[in-house]
Amino acid sequence: RRSPPCTMVIFGGGGDLTRRLLIPAIYNLVGSQLLDEGFSIIAVDWSDLDTETLRSQLGETMRQFVAQRRSSASELHEADWEWLSQRISFLRGGFDDSQTYQTLSSLCGVGNCVFYLAVAARFFAPIVGQLEAAGLTRETESRFRRVVVEKPFGSDLISARALNAQLRNALEESQIYRIDHYLGKETVQNILALRFSNGFFEPLWNRQNIDHVQITAAETVGVEKRGRFYETTGALRDMVPNHIMQLLAMVAMEAPISFDADAVRDEKSKVLAAVHPITANDIVRGQYTAGSIAGRALAGYRDEPDVAPDSQAESFIAMKLSIDNWRWAGVPFYVRTGKRLALRKTEIAIHFKQAPYALFRETPVEKLTPNIMVLQIQPTEGVTMQFSAKMPGPTVKLGGVRMKFDYADWFQEGPSTGYETLIYDCLIGDATLFQRADNVEAGWKVVQPAIEAWKDGGRNAQSKLQFYAAGKAGPDAADALLARDGRHWLRLN
Ligand code: BG6
Repeated sequence: RRSPPCTMVIFGGGGDLTRRLLIPAIYNLVGSQLLDEGFSIIAVDWSDLDTETLRSQLGETMRQFVAQRRSSASELHEADWEWLSQRISFLRGGFDDSQTYQTLSSLCGVGNCVFYLAVAARFFAPIVGQLEAAGLTRETESRFRRVVVEKPFGSDLISARALNAQLRNALEESQIYRIDHYLGKETVQNILALRFSNGFFEPLWNRQNIDHVQITAAETVGVEKRGRFYETTGALRDMVPNHIMQLLAMVAMEAPISFDADAVRDEKSKVLAAVHPITANDIVRGQYTAGSIAGRALAGYRDEPDVAPDSQAESFIAMKLSIDNWRWAGVPFYVRTGKRLALRKTEIAIHFKQAPYALFRETPVEKLTPNIMVLQIQPTEGVTMQFSAKMPGPTVKLGGVRMKFDYADWFQEGPSTGYETLIYDCLIGDATLFQRADNVEAGWKVVQPAIEAWKDGGRNAQSKLQFYAAGKAGPDAADALLARDGRHWLRLN
């Protein structure tokens, strides 16, 4: 069904996120015929642009964007682009200037509006304050007013709470759409489908049958041009309270009573509240030094642009988490995420317990292939299962085999950036895939003890950085974290 008519006001409309993700996603929604004739975009920014220039710049980016596609749709669909670009206009204005909001008031009129904050986090509260002061956030029977907030949502528990309070001063919770782009990924959404639309996974999904879980979000990219941002953020804040916690919640939550936004988010909240706040012993922070990936020599983190030569920011985190509830007590959730690692790979590996008894003399229990179900999030999208099977031959010998479901094999995928679902859901008022205030705060609560412990800037043992060469699977201390429990990470390379 098509979304209702709506003006989407993008603060930061001249910026990177708009160009690289929002406009391509909206273009894809046009192609899927999910937008109403009454859809339009007002891009607000202080930069020196005008509507015509912005449209032609965006057109250029869109041409490059579609050219990079491997699928058949590697040429811009001119009619779709025309449809969209005619609906884009530019408004030059400061985010803290009340005049900007006066102008928006007259441009938006009495209709539906989504205000998308594609801006640096320091503007979130001021923009929302101004929107409210100008009467732009007021909803009526016949119109909705919604605000989409990007990350980073605060920099610790206290600031996340303060930001939630500021937003709630101006808006109802139901008007706030906090984005975590991991929830836009098909494979992340598939975790719930897999668990709750099949009969045979869920009965095994508990401490009786699962030995431990490994969550990996490995990137090969370095800090790119974001040194300034990353220096005060680091891998923990950048990835863990948001993306990693969302993955963990999808895997560990109880079945919701329905797929209504609040039913799903209630269950997420419950499981996130049960995650034990991290203890210093259970976390490793790493930073990459010079190295190479696929034969390409790469600089160390401290030599990246806008990074201090003695920087204490971490580019890697490994941690052992536990969930204090009946389903998961005693099942460790090991998490690792980092930049400049050997491979780009995001996956969740569920390690099942071994068979209880060595029936096969030739293969003792400890030599059996571990039963692992891997939910592959990206770049490979699918599910694999690893188990033992009899090897052909006259004696009973067992070998490891793998069963594989590959998204690309099964489905004719439509082109997607991951933002399509999120933007469309916001337009139709479905907040299921957005984070509620309590979800965000629960994520921060888990990592808050580490943030406290690291305030000394790396001087004590707990906050000491462990180094790893670019292209490795992380620092040795990350391996030691699992070796301590007699376990090891799945190979990254
Ligand atoms: C962003 C982080 O939220 O997620 C980046 O700020 C990170 O540092 C990115 O690279 C990873 O997203 P994806 O979709 O490439 O896994």
